[in-house]
Amino acid sequence: MSYDVAVIGGDGIGPEIVAEAQRVLQAALKQYGKSAEFTSCLAGGAAIDAVGHPLPKETLAAAHKADAVLLGAVGGPQWDTVEPELRAEKAILGLRQSLELYANLRPIRVPAILAERSPLKAEKVTGVDILIVRELSGGIYYGERQEGAVQDGVEQAFDKESYSVPEIERITRFAFRAAKLRRNKVTSVDKANVLATSRLWRRTVEKLAATEPEIKVNHLYVDNCAMQLILAPKQFDVIVTNNLFGDILSDEAAVIAGSIGMLPSASIGSGTGLYEPIHGSAPDIAGRGLANPLGTILSAALLLRYSLKEEAAACLIEAAVDKVLEEGYGTIDLVQSGMTQVTTSEMGRLVERQIGKI
Ligand code: IPM
Ligand code: MG
Repeated sequence: MSYDVAVIGGDGIGPEIVAEAQRVLQAALKQYGKSAEFTSCLAGGAAIDAVGHPLPKETLAAAHKADAVLLGAVGGPQWDTVEPELRAEKAILGLRQSLELYANLRPIRVPAILAERSPLKAEKVTGVDILIVRELSGGIYYGERQEGAVQDGVEQAFDKESYSVPEIERITRFAFRAAKLRRNKVTSVDKANVLATSRLWRRTVEKLAATEPEIKVNHLYVDNCAMQLILAPKQFDVIVTNNLFGDILSDEAAVIAGSIGMLPSASIGSGTGLYEPIHGSAPDIAGRGLANPLGTILSAALLLRYSLKEEAAACLIEAAVDKVLEEGYGTIDLVQSGMTQVTTSEMGRLVERQIGKI
């Protein structure tokens, strides 16, 4: 049995980290007598350079046809000056929209060995296990916007945030389902003291919460949530929030784990699922073997879990990553005294080898 996985290396460190994730994904499937067929696709800056558009229609077609999409990262300074509609980031936004991926899952776990790497005190972060559920297909990211308008000689711009009840219900139900498989706690994050969309968000979440008595639901304003993530991250189980707040809070929560390079994500909806690390293309370290491939490798585990329904293979990758870290291997962002520094591809091979041993 072979799965069809569309692969977008993208820009910067993207191609390097995706190659390691492919290696590990294949090794995990092999343990169960299965395999993946990879279709390489262009997107982001690489696609702008090759065909003049960040999301070529061939890539979109391949993504729709595939069982899952694995993506590295897109963007870089050389494409920052192109017109907004042709920016490299449009590749990701276009894929999310076209595949109707409304739920973005960003799990944050702190392996014991990495607790010392966290900018927070180790005792504060050991045992942190948070799942951020970010609404991904609505809100200010996709609202009407205007740029470059001049009124009475003054330049103006706006971005419109809007949410409907069905959009909020859909992501809230998703978060509730996730919480039931975890610790039954959901924190909904908004800015209901100021924003109309947030008041609708809170009311809608409250209504659904009343029908789920076994789930403990609380509400935090986004500014307070940002503070609580630093003060007491262990209080959180599932966090559900809108597109923009989820973008910001997930970067903040990611560094709690010691390195943003560790964090995977899954984007799920009606179309093919999309899996990518939450970090960017890091052009400053591209091509030097310095990038941490574990965020992408762990994204491949999520791909197995959510799109291919290969739970055992997903767990195998996660266990192998934990073991390699426990054995003291780390890329430059992880390594501390007593650990062995390895390159991007050495890390991929270590995880691959570990899979064969478990
Ligand atoms: C993310 C990224 C994207 C976002 C960018 C690249 C458009 O920051 O996935 O968190 O803002 O959603
Ligand atoms: Mg982001």
